[in-house]
Amino acid sequence: MKISRRSFLKWCTASAAALGVTKLELDRLESVVLAAETTPPVIWLQGSGCSGCSISLLNSVEGTTVEDLLINKISMKYHHNLMAAAGDMAITSINNTVAQYDGRFVLIVEGAVPTANNGMYCVLGEKDGRPWTMLDAVKQLGPKASYVIAAGTCATYGGVPKLGANPAVIKKLDTEILYGQTKNKIINLPGCPVHPYTLTKTIIDLLLYGMPALDSEGRPTAYYKSSVHSMCPRRGTSGAKQLGEFGCYKSQGCKGPQTYNNCPLRQWNNKVNWCIGAGHHCIACSSKDFLANPIYKFV
Ligand code: SF4
Ligand code: F3S
Repeated sequence: MKISRRSFLKWCTASAAALGVTKLELDRLESVVLAAETTPPVIWLQGSGCSGCSISLLNSVEGTTVEDLLINKISMKYHHNLMAAAGDMAITSINNTVAQYDGRFVLIVEGAVPTANNGMYCVLGEKDGRPWTMLDAVKQLGPKASYVIAAGTCATYGGVPKLGANPAVIKKLDTEILYGQTKNKIINLPGCPVHPYTLTKTIIDLLLYGMPALDSEGRPTAYYKSSVHSMCPRRGTSGAKQLGEFGCYKSQGCKGPQTYNNCPLRQWNNKVNWCIGAGHHCIACSSKDFLANPIYKFV
């Protein structure tokens, strides 16, 4: 049976106890097996969000499959949903990556960052005998990474977690936490979720060409230069009287004219459909105005 290096390593880690493999041996195995992998390594952190961007990424087939991306193109060192390791072993993987690659890694941040009570509303693990929060993690890793990507609307603008009273004092990554502290500008990829094509292609673009051209909100112009409305196949059709009917949803409050995303071209679920095609207006999921949308009213 053909098995990839990553699958092999995952299997070894999951089976460590049954196989009688010690942590030291696993660390050694990791360095030997992963040494053959391509660079750059990726550390993917998840803060306040719903993991939807990760789920969306796992559904990617356009441009490349997610297996191809994770196994052959990049080396994912930490992602707490996808990796087999947990606890100390998982945090050790972050520490090893930072030490071993000396700043040549990509940091992907999914979810917003709670800052109240020193960030204690989102704890990733333990470091030096103390809770290691998402706030600690982005502040420590962000300035060291070669590139930082804010994946999704929560990381980019705060998203749903930042709505309402916001008792955890949720903040967005770029202008409210790491502004001016990273080696390159933070690449913001809004969307709820971020479109998997946009994320995978941005990573591949980084590997091939370096920093992409960004607009004034830190979004790659290649994927956010056109409004949803400008690409909508319902432009010029008569107004629909209600959602679900065919026609333009402007009178139902469609946010397509002020929202920038490539969903009309890329669509979702591997081009099965998209919001307007499915009979609903655009709710501006990739815009900072998403917070002002009336369907999400919290107190
Ligand atoms: Fe524009 Fe929305 Fe109408 Fe499409 S449905 S044409 S995005 S206003
Ligand atoms: Fe989001 Fe509007 Fe597209 S809600 S997925 S930007 S149609």
